[in-house]
Amino acid sequence: MKIIHLSDLHITPAGKSLFGEDPTEHLSQCIEHINRHHADAQYCVLTGDLTHAGHPMAYQRLAECLKALAMPVRFLMGNHDDRAAFGQVFTQQPSEVAGFVQHAEVLGDYEALYLDTLQDGYTDGYLCEQRLMWLEQKLATATRPILLFSHHPMPMLQYPSMDWLRLSNAEQVLPLLKRCTQPVHLFSGHVHRCSAGVWNGIPFFTVNGTNHQHELDLTTPGAATSTFEPASYAVILPHAEGVTVHFQPFGYDDSVRFPYTGSLDALKCRHA
Ligand SMILES: [Fe+2]
Repeated sequence: MKIIHLSDLHITPAGKSLFGEDPTEHLSQCIEHINRHHADAQYCVLTGDLTHAGHPMAYQRLAECLKALAMPVRFLMGNHDDRAAFGQVFTQQPSEVAGFVQHAEVLGDYEALYLDTLQDGYTDGYLCEQRLMWLEQKLATATRPILLFSHHPMPMLQYPSMDWLRLSNAEQVLPLLKRCTQPVHLFSGHVHRCSAGVWNGIPFFTVNGTNHQHELDLTTPGAATSTFEPASYAVILPHAEGVTVHFQPFGYDDSVRFPYTGSLDALKCRHA
């Protein structure tokens, strides 16, 4: 099982740049890299901020761009998205909670839960009672390890410029996660940074945006500073013993490839 995880594409309508760059060009580069190295992945999950301003033309442009991707896509909503505009273009999206882009599916020996954490008009995330009840039921009846995708991270990342904008009612979700008898793994975007850790015993991962990133400033509260640090995507490998996540930059790279050592004889392995 191999799943590609992208986030925060911030696609704009044709002719509209973002911070001087075209997010669709960055996404095309990303897709080209994925197709070259990971065309065998079963799914690609986009954890929200699909567009920058929720414009229908931007969703149309996204749909056109994604035609090149070698595997099917799963979509989540971010705070920059607009459910109605998204639904006008992506008309066949599954939903198990009326009015929201939230559903579940079995992926091999795992179950994926796709949460809709968008609260219209706000930057932070929220799960209303309807969405929480769905999640509670899914976790209470889980028979497989869970891959839980959401745009907004639940944990504090010790990153003050984004922590105040995470899922605002994460404390309501935590007891549901802790009661689940299956292992749960959290995957998010929103923070435009790769991070990994453990939150109350639950492993979590966040991934960069495909367009711009947020500077790693661990002291300044308020708004984050955006950068064009190298963008990357994540490769999620759920397997029999757990879940492995690799982070892969995809920008232009002409650096020299060279062997780690001159000879295999120089490598010693007790288990070989
Ligand atoms: Fe974003």
